[in-house]
Amino acid sequence: MKRYERLADDIAGLIRNGILAPGEKIPSVRHASQTYGVSPSTVFQAYYLLEDRGLIQARARSGYFVRALAGLPLPEPQPSPAAHETTDVDVSELVFSVLGSLKNPHTVPFGSAFPSPDLYPLARLARSMAHSLRTLAPHDIIADMTAGNPDLMRQIALRYMVGGVRLPMEELVITNGALEALNLSLQSVTQAGDLVAIESPAFYACLQVLERLQLKAVEIPVHPRDGVDLNVLRDRLRSLPIKACWFMSSFQNPVGSSLSELRKLELYGLLREHQVPLIEDDVYAELYFGERPPRPIKSLDDDGLVMHCGSFSKSLAPGYRVGWVAGGRFAERIARLKLMTTISPSVPAQTAIADYLQHGSYDRHLRKLRYTLERQQDAMLASAARHFPQGTRVTRPSGGYFLWFEFPEQVDSLQLFKLALAQGISLAPGPIFSASQGFRHCARLNHGHPWSTDSEQAMELLGRMLRSF
Ligand SMILES: Cc1ncc(COP(=O)(O)O)c(C=O)c1O
Repeated sequence: MKRYERLADDIAGLIRNGILAPGEKIPSVRHASQTYGVSPSTVFQAYYLLEDRGLIQARARSGYFVRALAGLPLPEPQPSPAAHETTDVDVSELVFSVLGSLKNPHTVPFGSAFPSPDLYPLARLARSMAHSLRTLAPHDIIADMTAGNPDLMRQIALRYMVGGVRLPMEELVITNGALEALNLSLQSVTQAGDLVAIESPAFYACLQVLERLQLKAVEIPVHPRDGVDLNVLRDRLRSLPIKACWFMSSFQNPVGSSLSELRKLELYGLLREHQVPLIEDDVYAELYFGERPPRPIKSLDDDGLVMHCGSFSKSLAPGYRVGWVAGGRFAERIARLKLMTTISPSVPAQTAIADYLQHGSYDRHLRKLRYTLERQQDAMLASAARHFPQGTRVTRPSGGYFLWFEFPEQVDSLQLFKLALAQGISLAPGPIFSASQGFRHCARLNHGHPWSTDSEQAMELLGRMLRSF
């Protein structure tokens, strides 16, 4: 972290804790430069950064002031109540119609599922692809197809080891993104008509997979901060013949919640007791804002019950379609299903990522990416506090790039979605994240793109639309 970034963080902390109140003047550049022992240009850079994050504003000839409402965060959403015991899933039409409208590149992309592509080292990856293909033995381009590229598998296993998970290489299956890993994992343990416990709200592709495989959803409410409700899960595991669980333990999409280590232990204990396999979707694992990465539930698994699914789509290489599953006792079945469906992800994409992981600077890139996403989260939260109506609630995830908003009851987010799109703003309305199409007054907003005047104006416009309901 650079000096000016550290200084900006210190001042942002003072604003967040209310020590510097909205409307208050912050120290002059000369004063701050003397107090912190840094040059005036470092202070200027820090103040520009805080301005970009929407926390302070300059007033002509008067200096810098804390922006109105910058220090008053919106409250957290309420935990949602438990829904019906089981639900037939039928959301695909709605999801496709919403996703279809998100493709316009000229919209303010709050509805997008990805951060800005400019945040990824795409040119460096292209060099890795060229280099790795020049040195790949002709035989290996075919040999690497089945299990996966061995260098890539070694690199993934190494990252697990550093994160505290000892993983035999035989457990790893390289897939076309995490979505294939999740699909195959679910197929390996279920048949049409079976019950699967999922989160409510859930990642919409999870709902579509259940719909396609004719599985029934047992929706378990997700607490906005603490993750899946373990009391409801305990109850459902006792009363229903659940065949699998599909949960995100960290930075849940769309809510952003994470289970604490204690709750992960409790969840694993429940699954072990009932011998129910867990499909752990952990695609945002590398995007944590804290000091240490969250430990996956997989790290507790001494029984092969957890299928841990990951991907490079969110952390390094969107569009390369390289993901994996550490499949526990189901790995062989998953590998066979992969052979019967897609055979293999692209070998050049795998070798490019393997080369980058060995010779690029993945950890440096990740540090920068996390830092940027956290600052952009600050900017969106501050902007929402300025523009959204009273009664709005929002999560404050400790990783990832989504915020989950709960608007006042009368707001219809599908209607809001249409109004906003007509004004060039996208968002992801609540019902696409629910098997029973609930969360009508909720929406997911993406802060993965650099905060700009357009973003600020879009938030202001959304605020006006929200007040019109
Ligand atoms: C929660 C979640 N799981 C899985 C995926 C799919 O990941 P991939 O692009 O690697 O297939 C996504 C992508 O949006 C996601 O948000």
